[in-house]
Amino acid sequence: MDAVRIYGGNCLCGQTTIQGSKNASLPILAATLLINGICEIENCPDISDVYHMLRLLESLGCKVEREGSLVRVNTEQLSKCDMPADSVRVMRSSIMLLGALLARTGSVSMEYPGGCVIGARPIDLHLQSLCRMGVAIEQQKQGFSAESVRLKGAAFRLPFVSVGVTENLLLAAVMAEGMTVIEPAAKEPEIQALCEFLNLAGARIEGNGSGRLTIHGVKKLKPVRYRIPADRIVAGTYLCACMTAGGSIFLRDAPVEDMESVLEYARRMGIIIESEADGILVRGRACKRISGVLRTGCYPDFPTDMQSQFMVAMAASGQPGQIEETVFENRFRIVPELRRMGADISVQGSTAYVNGGRKLCGAIVHAQELRGGAALILAALAAQGTSIVLNRHYIDRGYEDIVIRLRELGAKIELA
Ligand code: UD1
Repeated sequence: MDAVRIYGGNCLCGQTTIQGSKNASLPILAATLLINGICEIENCPDISDVYHMLRLLESLGCKVEREGSLVRVNTEQLSKCDMPADSVRVMRSSIMLLGALLARTGSVSMEYPGGCVIGARPIDLHLQSLCRMGVAIEQQKQGFSAESVRLKGAAFRLPFVSVGVTENLLLAAVMAEGMTVIEPAAKEPEIQALCEFLNLAGARIEGNGSGRLTIHGVKKLKPVRYRIPADRIVAGTYLCACMTAGGSIFLRDAPVEDMESVLEYARRMGIIIESEADGILVRGRACKRISGVLRTGCYPDFPTDMQSQFMVAMAASGQPGQIEETVFENRFRIVPELRRMGADISVQGSTAYVNGGRKLCGAIVHAQELRGGAALILAALAAQGTSIVLNRHYIDRGYEDIVIRLRELGAKIELA
């Protein structure tokens, strides 16, 4: 069955190693298309989104090899610019291939990308921005085709910050004619990793990590070997496992410097966190109320990808709390499932009110997207009794062996 069974009510104790970042590996794998030759990407997580990205690269004529967490992408035989519809539809990051393919081949046709249903998630800004770089786009009902003779640099004043648009424009701009300026650019650590990878390959990107990126187009990039940084959202999720179930766990390789806002909120909820040279030690259980609102935002603010896990930690703590979601308009889909587990949560517009005082109990619940699905497992760890979380495939999109990792941390959990 596509499910996980959890026996709740047990404290955690143990250690695990944090996998490579999903949101860094996907655009970096797309970026290998810009390079004629063999790139070696280390620490690539073994998750289904990466599997789909590698399938997409193969469908374009790339040769892909995996040896443990090392992935080799050979783009010498890149031959096509059409992508298999099923892989494009399951994953929003397939849009990342657009900028890279236009730069390398000048022509793309693809279905509209899919991904987790956490809001409207349009791609209008991706397409409009690429048009300004000299791309002609023809939209049909199911998909679109894009052509460009030569990409041209442009100065962008974007209407809002978008991780995906910043990445797509970076990929289109590094080999475009002239200079491109992206403002406001997203500053997420995954954008910084993409810039690092591209600069290592010979790109000229300035302002990495700031809200303004300047890209001077170059003629050619060279093959490189690059290590994907650890996944701050996965580390945050296991931190939240301790917050809900209680105990003491060590998260090896947790990227502590990228997790400041998450660690701060966890501390405010009563968790003890100690940074060590090779990871973080987490102790305790969420027991304190956060005064004020936990508000999601663009990095370095609190990540929307950690919102559901903190909602669960609040619900398990028995303390009331408020969460405001400012990035996606439909990211409270976990609420009805948590209510089935006994939580008292109400939603008004973009704010969720977690009313304290209730204990979580085991139930059969449905994962409906990646992070919300992982959060349901966390709720089940704290709940009295047994729970089943259905639709495990959503969780497998971003978490490598979540059942094995949680067992290493002392959870009673199995595939069902
Ligand atoms: C990326 C992350 C995702 C994270 C999100 C916000 C990856 C693979 N995914 O998603 O995990 O939750 O950043 O940190 O890295 N928007 C438009 N038009 C567009 C593009 C975006 O209206 O053309 C809107 C979106 O609907 C959303 C907001 O902009 O409301 C931000 O989205 P964006 O930053 O683009 O998120 P993703 O790149 O999809």
